[in-house]
Amino acid sequence: MRRFTTPTALFAASLTLLLALVVLGCGGDDDGGADSTATPESEAVTESPGDLEPLADGLPEEISGFGAWTKLNTEPIPPKAADPHLGEKDVFTNATPAEAEAVDSGAEPYPDGTIIVKSAVRPDGDFIGLIAVMRKVRGLDPQHNDWEWVEYTRDSADSGFEVIARDAVCWTCHEVAKPTDYVYTRRG
Ligand code: HEC
Repeated sequence: MRRFTTPTALFAASLTLLLALVVLGCGGDDDGGADSTATPESEAVTESPGDLEPLADGLPEEISGFGAWTKLNTEPIPPKAADPHLGEKDVFTNATPAEAEAVDSGAEPYPDGTIIVKSAVRPDGDFIGLIAVMRKVRGLDPQHNDWEWVEYTRDSADSGFEVIARDAVCWTCHEVAKPTDYVYTRRG
């Protein structure tokens, strides 16, 4: 949030409001626990656009500062042949390490509001050329554990990111990782 100030402040504020509505709709963690059984899904779906709108640099505000989040991989994930996300990659989540480990053990899915970001430095470049995002929005797509999927790329360090793919193309491949909530990368 801090990095993108004036040009996006208004939109950021409305996003914050939307996020707040979603959180409230989910009943929160400690406040008003009674809400959590009140099936607020429809409200969450209509209030949340289910769409990671491009903001500054073409990336969504929600992932701002992702480099400081919980990192799932310890070593960079190297490029491989026929790589769907070509490049050297790191994977971050706004979930806690304990939440990520619970997913790895098959005990729990990631909580609502989780965002997972994979950044890739393209093989020929020294800049991040690809950002793939999974975001869990309660009620968005129950058949695929409510993940929203969007991938962004750019060709140079100076250009903005653009959306290149989203949704079905993503979950059809991530289906393999369904036992760990569609997430391939394990913590550690
Ligand atoms: C052909 C298979 C395939 C497709 C298609 C695919 N992915 Fe992935 N994705 C992977 C694999 C494998 C990983 C594990 C890390 C790696 O090897 O890059 C991954 C990792 C990720 C991660 C980090 C979390 C995790 O699961 O490890 C995100 C976020 C992600 N992909 C988003 C997307 C999005 C968004 C799309 C669609 C635009 C997409 N993926 C399409 C195979 C795929």
